Amino acid sequence: MHHEENGHGIPLLLIHGFPHDHTLWEPQLEGLHDVARVIAPDLRGFGLVEDVPHTMTMDDYAADVKSQMDRLGIAKAVIGGLSMGGYVALAFAANYPEALLGLVLCNTRAVSDNEQAREGRYATAQKALDEGMAGIAEGMLPKMISERSELAHPDLSMAVENMMARQSPEAVAAAARGMAIRPDRTPMLGTIKVPVLVISGSADTLIPPAESEAMAEKIADGEVVVIPGVAHLSNLEDPEAFNAAVRKFLQRLNG
Ligand code: MLT
Repeated sequence: MHHEENGHGIPLLLIHGFPHDHTLWEPQLEGLHDVARVIAPDLRGFGLVEDVPHTMTMDDYAADVKSQMDRLGIAKAVIGGLSMGGYVALAFAANYPEALLGLVLCNTRAVSDNEQAREGRYATAQKALDEGMAGIAEGMLPKMISERSELAHPDLSMAVENMMARQSPEAVAAAARGMAIRPDRTPMLGTIKVPVLVISGSADTLIPPAESEAMAEKIADGEVVVIPGVAHLSNLEDPEAFNAAVRKFLQRLNG
């Protein structure tokens, strides 16, 4: 598993969303390295091209993340994830609770897909394989970042569209199929023993803040930060607000 890392201290492992790669986390690799060892992996098949099975479940990705931690000699980490990365982070929390120091769940939800969403996943998988990623990237872009973010950072749209367009169709199809069959993690939220920071964006229409808030309410030590004016990529759209929230959370974990 390829990854990039920066800094020393408490391990903060950040898992990208769909269809992204580790470069999603550049503002955190740059902006949080003084308080954490920031580690941003590429999920299997994303970023560098490599073979992927037909379906990658969220548990499969979580197992890859755990193996990577073992290889790096990291026994416990704060696991963060955005959107699909959050689904993977919840799978990690369910399967390896002993390896968790805390969770940062960004623009994500605990519930599984309904039938309509599931059909959409299979359609996306097929479209990626039949037509490549350009059309999918173009279609998803308006849901990823808000108009306000686009105006404030004119280069951001192009960078995000390019990141999505360069992903391998096989990796995208495997991830879409895996998301379609992911379980409802709501029942395990009450078993999470570590502190959890939930981050959302007020303009996120893909996963509205209400869904993230509902998830946080079921976690014993869960706090929510909704960043104003940002959509689905809160960490890229407003890195200052995002990093400030994570920094405060890490300082609390460091006691
Ligand atoms: C993501 O950003 O990872 C996706 O939008 C997640 C999803 O489609 O559920």
